Amino acid sequence: MKIDFANLKFSYLEHKEKIDEAIASTISSTSFIMGQSVYEFEDALAKFSGAKYAISCSSGTDALLLAMMALGIKPGDEVITTPFTFIATAETIAFLGAKPVFVDINEQTYNIDVSRIEEKITKNTKAILPVSLYGQISDMEAINKIALKYSLPVIEDGAQSFGATYKGKRSCNVSAIGTTSFFPAKPLGCFGDGGALFTSDEYLADKMKSMRIHGQTKRYHHKYIGMGGRMDTIQAAVLLSKLPSYPEEITLRQTVAENYNQKLQTTVTTPDVSYDRTSVWAQYTVRLQNRDAIQGKLKEQGIPTAVHYPMPLHLQECFQTLGYQQGDFPVAELLAKEVMSLPMNPFLTKEEIDIISIQLDKNIDELII
Ligand SMILES: Cc1ncc(COP(=O)(O)O)c(C=O)c1O
Repeated sequence: MKIDFANLKFSYLEHKEKIDEAIASTISSTSFIMGQSVYEFEDALAKFSGAKYAISCSSGTDALLLAMMALGIKPGDEVITTPFTFIATAETIAFLGAKPVFVDINEQTYNIDVSRIEEKITKNTKAILPVSLYGQISDMEAINKIALKYSLPVIEDGAQSFGATYKGKRSCNVSAIGTTSFFPAKPLGCFGDGGALFTSDEYLADKMKSMRIHGQTKRYHHKYIGMGGRMDTIQAAVLLSKLPSYPEEITLRQTVAENYNQKLQTTVTTPDVSYDRTSVWAQYTVRLQNRDAIQGKLKEQGIPTAVHYPMPLHLQECFQTLGYQQGDFPVAELLAKEVMSLPMNPFLTKEEIDIISIQLDKNIDELII
């Protein structure tokens, strides 16, 4: 038996008719760029998130770039973020010539340790960029409070959390700007690259919309330095046909996570979701000893796993010039050695969860003996 990690095939087959029709109709319209589906998708996204404005764009990475460009982040500025995330979060800060300033993470949620943010704020700090890792939103109320005290904007990197909630509000609508990714393996994925920005601030929305199309305000009139960062119409059409059933898929993911929690609570450290939040379970990530050996054994047994992420960003070669060292962020460094993501998708069956849990338990026992 071969278990699928993200099961993109099943996800396509579930919506095949609608998706095929949406793609075919985009092709016959030949409106490949900024076609009708892009605008319809943005309206649907804004409604879904609760934010006043939703702006689609070319990827989650470009969404981060556009957010920081709209805020005027420039060389010499500092942006506070977490070292335990995908490279794009900090890479985009550095790409704009600014400096990522890392803060260690909370051992329960794996998200930025809010109690350590304030000590990193300097006169050069221009934004706080928390990540909603694995599908769970950071403690945004506390982060927004600190940001307000220092008049800083907060950008939520919600690439993994679109649809998650924090105190009843949806991800990407819990700070000045929210960004997300529709990379195929994300909880809501398209068939290539795609992303979006969210805000309720009209000025920022207009600026991000313009910057996404080369800073254009009207054809061949360029107010800002922007980029070619549009989402193409085919991706918007695909997402538009998937969005209505997304809440159902989130519920299915949550059921898979609950089943895992029940089966694994005595085997490994299972993930913790705060009482005031819901996760969309972009990843179901456990903590365990002997991670690499266990991963190898599970692979032999047809069970795919992944590590998100094996090296915290402050230790990456590309950030050597920032001067961080091993030991600077002990929690992130420890988790990088211990985390392992198990197959997670809405279509994972109880039987598959049983097999994964039994094998994981067995492999751990064998290694201890
Ligand atoms: C936390 C985080 N930020 C940003 C991104 C970048 O998104 P994309 O791959 O759509 O550029 C990702 C994608 O994996 C991510 O996980």
